[in-house]
Amino acid sequence: DEDPRIHGIKNRIRVVPDFPKPGIMFQDITTLLLDHKAFKDTIDLFVERYKGRNISVVAGIEARGFIFGPPIALAIGAKFVPLRKPKKLPGEVISEKYDLEYGSDCLQMHVGAVEPADQALIVDDLVATGGTLCAAINLIERVGAQVVECACVIELPDLKGREKLSGKPLYVLMESH
Ligand code: PRP
Repeated sequence: DEDPRIHGIKNRIRVVPDFPKPGIMFQDITTLLLDHKAFKDTIDLFVERYKGRNISVVAGIEARGFIFGPPIALAIGAKFVPLRKPKKLPGEVISEKYDLEYGSDCLQMHVGAVEPADQALIVDDLVATGGTLCAAINLIERVGAQVVECACVIELPDLKGREKLSGKPLYVLMESH
């Protein structure tokens, strides 16, 4: 039932123990990007899922949503909107704070980039606690647009991030435990 391309993608993701802190198993997608076939398979799997579904905007989360989001947007005929960490966007922004293990962070979006009639796909590399995706969903919905789905390469299901998405569908290529 699993697409045969997923095995090859999984094999190209490097897991780095104790980075950036002791106890964290860092999922490094930079090694996936070095392999043209695995990187293309990753984009193709998302494009096959989302083309023809009337998605008008792909919202990519800083930083690694900026790698996977734009090729998906181009292939499905959608615009791309970056959701950025604070003080990076020059125009008028709306902000959503979210909690981290220690402290908090924030995502910002340009006002006017996403419009009420838009149908959005949110893209990132990984969902862990789900706090980041939750902030992204809130940004899109605050401007009156619809979130069709969230898409990530990797899910850490033990952290139950899926439960934080207030019922929005989450699609991932693989799980990591
Ligand atoms: C990582 C990852 C996601 C987020 C997921 O980014 O790329 O964006 O964490 O975690 P969560 O589900 O617990 O919210 P990070 O926060 O390390 O920021 P960076 O992309 O700027 O390095």
